[in-house]
Amino acid sequence: MSDFHSLKVTSVHQLTPSAVAISFTIPENLKDAFSFSAGQYITISKEINGVEVRRAYSISSAPGSGKITVGVKKVSEGIFSVYANEKIKVGDVLQVMPPEGRFVFEPVNTAKHVAGFAAGSGITPIMSIAETVLESHLNSTFVLVYGNQSPDEVMFSKEIEALQKKYTNRFFLQKVYSRTKEEECLFGRIEASTVNYIVKNKFKDAKFDAFYLCGPEEMINLVSDTLQEAGTPKEKIHFELFTSSETVDTMAESLDGKTQVEIIVDDETFTFSMDKKMLVLDAVLKENIDAPYSCQGGVCSSCIARVTEGKAEMVKNQILTDGEIAEGLILTCQAHPLTPTLKVNYDDV
Ligand code: FES
Repeated sequence: MSDFHSLKVTSVHQLTPSAVAISFTIPENLKDAFSFSAGQYITISKEINGVEVRRAYSISSAPGSGKITVGVKKVSEGIFSVYANEKIKVGDVLQVMPPEGRFVFEPVNTAKHVAGFAAGSGITPIMSIAETVLESHLNSTFVLVYGNQSPDEVMFSKEIEALQKKYTNRFFLQKVYSRTKEEECLFGRIEASTVNYIVKNKFKDAKFDAFYLCGPEEMINLVSDTLQEAGTPKEKIHFELFTSSETVDTMAESLDGKTQVEIIVDDETFTFSMDKKMLVLDAVLKENIDAPYSCQGGVCSSCIARVTEGKAEMVKNQILTDGEIAEGLILTCQAHPLTPTLKVNYDDV
């Protein structure tokens, strides 16, 4: 099920002093597997110091570009991001899982008016979405609100400039800096006032079809709430968390006993007993079962499976809708079993 393929790095370019763009050219035989929608991510697996590390990175390139580019920002203590920024070079081969994710823009044959709010490295999937929106129809427009601490932290600045040049009357950029005051830029973080300025003032006549938000949870909640207060229906707001708030797993403390688990992955059935205090995915990996996962933090959606018997409850969920939960879907990296038996099917999602 963990469908990794060897992909060769065909370019590495420095985006900022602490971020790189890594591109892969997809060989002919993998073109179908690696076709993607704007906004999706790939999972990269790498053994570093004897330990397998998996990380999900959003694709910044547009689906029509023929390549997959991801932006990787170095985070202190980030095992893979430090490796990517300091060691990865052209010609290296990495293990990459085909694109996934539900934060997508699918082009249609009519003009769309879309706004994107991004903070820091949250710009990565928004780049792909912006380009796709603008390419998809001659009258489509895209408003990008992009927040950073200062101009030297802006990722994809050349690519953003290229969009400005190519789509002079259809691509609009509002930069926001929290540490430096710059001409024509808003000062501060992306706040309720920023959102209101964009939708009620600067672009008050634009009838936005969709909003795409990507960045830290705090920003996403704030932008989403402000848009809804301004009358935007929830269905028009799409978001992708880039960092998730730490959730303390208090549920585990109150769970006693064991659960007999049956797992179906890739038409194979596995059974074992697990402690209810453990998370389903952790128990599955401990049994060396090759189940899909990436972030292990309830952010990426790789680990979704369906409960077909018994009950499991998630510590945290910002991905599945109430309807999907009612249908039995769970993020296995966030779910504890609650019943003496539990059947989980990774194939039926
Ligand atoms: S592994 Fe990413 S949501 Fe579970």
